[in-house]
Amino acid sequence: MKTLIVYCSSHGTTEKAVGLLSENIAGDVLAVDLKRDKIFFNLQEYDAVIIGGSIHAGEIQRRIKQFMRKHLEELLDKDVGLFLCCMRDGEIAIEQFNHSFPLELRKNAVALGLFGGEFLVSKMNFFERQVVKKVDGVVTDQSNLDIASIMEFVTRFNSRKVLV
Ligand SMILES: Cc1cc2nc3c(=O)[nH]c(=O)nc-3n(C[C@H](O)[C@H](O)[C@H](O)COP(=O)(O)O)c2cc1C
Repeated sequence: MKTLIVYCSSHGTTEKAVGLLSENIAGDVLAVDLKRDKIFFNLQEYDAVIIGGSIHAGEIQRRIKQFMRKHLEELLDKDVGLFLCCMRDGEIAIEQFNHSFPLELRKNAVALGLFGGEFLVSKMNFFERQVVKKVDGVVTDQSNLDIASIMEFVTRFNSRKVLV
């Protein structure tokens, strides 16, 4: 069983979540940061694909959207997991999740996850610091990464029915 994880991470929070997923998802796992990694992969070789990113000003990373748009038909034939890192919770987090991933993929997914997030002020540029200070009143690092949600996602993903 081969699983591909494609993700984007601005300051490393999504990457941390991907680290936990890579360690705990059953079978062979390849994780690719669509922005940073220059790794060639052949989507056809993977039975399962996990797609994740983070929210900035209401939007998931452009490369994640492009990946889903480009491979939508192929993804609908695979076991797909979708996850999001963000600092809003409750209804707003759910709205951001639904806005980030196409309905067809969400309906077809074997696991969906909202993993919380982090404000890593120490890694932000000047502009980002101004934004989170103004919008959220945040001036120091804060972590709200939801490890329990990540492990719940892993359990659901690993317990999916695999057709052989
Ligand atoms: C400039 C900026 C804008 C953000 N906008 C949002 C937002 O609109 N909604 C939200 O839930 N979280 C927002 N966040 C929080 C990020 O989703 C959170 O920091 C996440 O953990 C980032 O993950 P990453 O480091 O993997 O990119 C924002 C963070 C920054 C720095």
